[in-house]
Amino acid sequence: MKALQIAEGIYDVGATDWNVRDFHGYSTDKGSTYNAFLIIDEKITLIDTVKEEFTEQMMEKIASVIDPKKIDYIISNHTEMDHSGALPRVVHRIGKDTPVYCSKMGLKNLSAHFGNKINFRAVADGEELSLGKRTLQFFETRMIHWPDSMFSYLKEDKILFSSDAFGQHYAGPEHFDDQIGEAIMPHAKKYFANILWLFAPMIKGLLTKLNGLNLPIEMICPDHGILWRDNPAKIVETYAEWCELQPQQNKALVIYDSMWHSTEAMADEIVAGLTAEGMVAKPMNLRHCHRSDVVTEAFDAKAIVVGSPTLNNGLFPTVADFLTYLKGLKPKNKQAAAFGSYGWSGEAPKLVAEQLAGMDLEMVEDPLRVQYVPDQEGCESCYEFGRRIAQAMK
Ligand SMILES: Cc1cc2nc3c(=O)[nH]c(=O)nc-3n(C[C@H](O)[C@H](O)[C@H](O)COP(=O)(O)O)c2cc1C
Ligand SMILES: [Fe+2]
Ligand SMILES: [Fe+2]
Repeated sequence: MKALQIAEGIYDVGATDWNVRDFHGYSTDKGSTYNAFLIIDEKITLIDTVKEEFTEQMMEKIASVIDPKKIDYIISNHTEMDHSGALPRVVHRIGKDTPVYCSKMGLKNLSAHFGNKINFRAVADGEELSLGKRTLQFFETRMIHWPDSMFSYLKEDKILFSSDAFGQHYAGPEHFDDQIGEAIMPHAKKYFANILWLFAPMIKGLLTKLNGLNLPIEMICPDHGILWRDNPAKIVETYAEWCELQPQQNKALVIYDSMWHSTEAMADEIVAGLTAEGMVAKPMNLRHCHRSDVVTEAFDAKAIVVGSPTLNNGLFPTVADFLTYLKGLKPKNKQAAAFGSYGWSGEAPKLVAEQLAGMDLEMVEDPLRVQYVPDQEGCESCYEFGRRIAQAMK
């Protein structure tokens, strides 16, 4: 398999994972890519590697450009194994002493993953490494999204190798932003909502630091998805917007599961009530919508209304799953309410409300319960509940 030249003497030697559909619990319905980059200079440099099972694909791509044994330096921008899994085999193949440059935290984390047999070398924030005609400069980007994450900036070519930042889980025929256009943005947003939401305050700081450095950037090469060469500023500006965590003022989501459609009927009535008051509202059934898609929708919603039937005195498992996932993402600036159908003890709506309140969301209504199948009066109460939530959103 041949490497793709992305700039003069710079190649993408990464792998496309067309078939991955579950990436540690994130639904990757378009697959993903593990981008890795080869720079041909006096010192031949490999930036990041791939998931272990794609080692051969990467080696083949490298071999289409040069003899892999000629690689002088490896840069590891991020320890997570989708980018470092191939490291031991690559190092074994090209020479055990090949230096692997990483951040200070990277030294600790890579050693914890792979032991001390690899020649890891820590670089300081801002440190430079000459490759001959070109220079790489490293910037610590802690917690975007691991403690060891860093960016590598190729000064002469004005290329930022940004690791997981600005990436998207997307495998397609396109390689660059100009080839796909706006269609890539929902994937970038899903990535941000699911992986970076909780770090938004830190990313905001990093973007400020990056702006302050005034680095001219002609291309951003993340480790997943398409490369930004037509308009790299666009994704940086969009990240800055996302970091503000400002909801769309009129957007509400009604998120639920249901065993016998009663909680579902409640959800539909609540949506109707919200819509009647001018909100953009929609139901999302957790059995049919993946938690990572629900979170992507919830990311910029102003209000989330979460419903669960009572099951064995507790929450329905998919709702518990969703609430656990959402809590970890540290949602902010949102209103919330809880509801659900029950039969006899009816604990679920209160439990949902407690969890949402525990996330520091503003509870705008007491939990709403309907016994068994909602009758006309039950439906009315849900519709009015939706209308009142909409009033609170205004
Ligand atoms: C396996 C099972 C366990 C249940 N456990 C409880 C319970 O502990 N307390 C309760 O109030 N209702 C319980 N119910 C009754 C449901 O909450 C009730 O049927 C409700 O209307 C279901 O709403 P749904 O159609 O949205 O699933 C249980 C129902 C099932 C099928
Ligand atoms: Fe990662
Ligand atoms: Fe990654």
